[in-house]
Amino acid sequence: MEKLVINGGKSIFGKVNINGAKNAAVAILPAAIIASKGTSTVDNIPNIEDINCIEKILKYLGCKVEKASNSITIDSTEITTTNADIEEVRKMRASYYFLGALLARFKKARVELPGGCPIGVRPIDQHIKGFEALGAKVVIEHGAVNLTADELIGTSIYFDVVSVGATINVMLAATLAKGVTVLENSAKEPHVVDVANFLNSMGANIKGAGTDTIKITGVEELTGCNYSAIPDQIEAGTFMIATAACGGEVIINNVIPKHLESISAKLIEMGAEVIEHDDAVTIKSKGRLKGVNIKTLPYPGFPTDLQQPMSTLSTIAEGRSIINESIYESRFKHVDELKKMGATIKVEGRIAIIDGVETLTGAQVRATDLRAGAAMVIAGLIANGTTIVEGIEHIDRGYPNIENKFKALGADIKRIYE
Ligand code: EPU
Repeated sequence: MEKLVINGGKSIFGKVNINGAKNAAVAILPAAIIASKGTSTVDNIPNIEDINCIEKILKYLGCKVEKASNSITIDSTEITTTNADIEEVRKMRASYYFLGALLARFKKARVELPGGCPIGVRPIDQHIKGFEALGAKVVIEHGAVNLTADELIGTSIYFDVVSVGATINVMLAATLAKGVTVLENSAKEPHVVDVANFLNSMGANIKGAGTDTIKITGVEELTGCNYSAIPDQIEAGTFMIATAACGGEVIINNVIPKHLESISAKLIEMGAEVIEHDDAVTIKSKGRLKGVNIKTLPYPGFPTDLQQPMSTLSTIAEGRSIINESIYESRFKHVDELKKMGATIKVEGRIAIIDGVETLTGAQVRATDLRAGAAMVIAGLIANGTTIVEGIEHIDRGYPNIENKFKALGADIKRIYE
């Protein structure tokens, strides 16, 4: 079993390079299979477990895939099956994007219901509603979603909830549909825009991504292209929060500062300094920060994916912090772990009330999901003494090289194999 061992209590200084966005890459690579001509090379792909899973699924479907250090080339001209009957599908959430992509190109798809972090119920009813509205027949049996359609015809779809996954998936399905599809109440996350830009580079006609109304005019076919994924807003935010928590000064390179505004604003409110550059931010933090109130919301609100790291920071801030998790009902599994380290937190439904303590103390803790893992690493970095983080396979799904990046900033952190 692999674990992280952290001797905490040190400030961090230096520079860190942020990788390409996980949640953009895991949608762009399945989207590439819509191309029936040419190959696509996608750059700025993070080296994480979720991408390894996507690569295996692509190969299973018949794509030729070549991986370089941080780019992937996909030749999807000869797909051999539309039935993604491979266990990697169950290991991650984003495997559901193969439904939209296969449906678009072949008018049929079979993909098992997705896995992913245990942070709530996570239904896919809005994806299904969109596929059905475009003309697909949807049957769920033996744990898999089966889609078939004679043809897909553009229509107007209003999402009942703002969903990143449903917005992207229905956008994929509509790229080759006849006529015009209008998606209302769409998610506005940067990765939704990134996937639309990628599809447009392959020849799609998508307008309005980044607003709540996306208009997709169906085209005949897509052709492979060269593309570079956006930087990971959540990895960047994790390093910003870690710097605010540990104290120190870190330049976070390869970011789009605009995507980080909700995070910068909260850290500034707590007393940290954030300086924006063209494609970097500097964060400086000294002394104890002040408690803060946060409500997670769809973009451009505060991202749910940074709620857990932010609650670690709040455990040592002065005064009371109130954190309202409005997206996922079970995204507080890290709280019991933080309590083992001396944090004072009370959870009532979707609200965590955190009364700041002077410091945390090292303990043996568990990463219960990906971002809970990041929260525990930050807790270990600030705690007095030694923290052992177990369950780090969750962290490896989304953070490339987390221990080496923190080590380069002066943290005492290593991976052990037992
Ligand atoms: N929802 C529905 N029905 C649906 C789809 C979603 O009710 O058909 C609800 C969800 O239960 C949730 C809310 O809508 O309460 C938002 O869910 P969304 O669909 O936006 O989430 P997702 O697409 O499954 C992606 C990211 C998550 C991130 C969320 C929110 C990927 C692969 N995952 O999930 O990332 O938390 O958007 O921003 O893109 C992570 O990276 O750690 C992670 C969990």
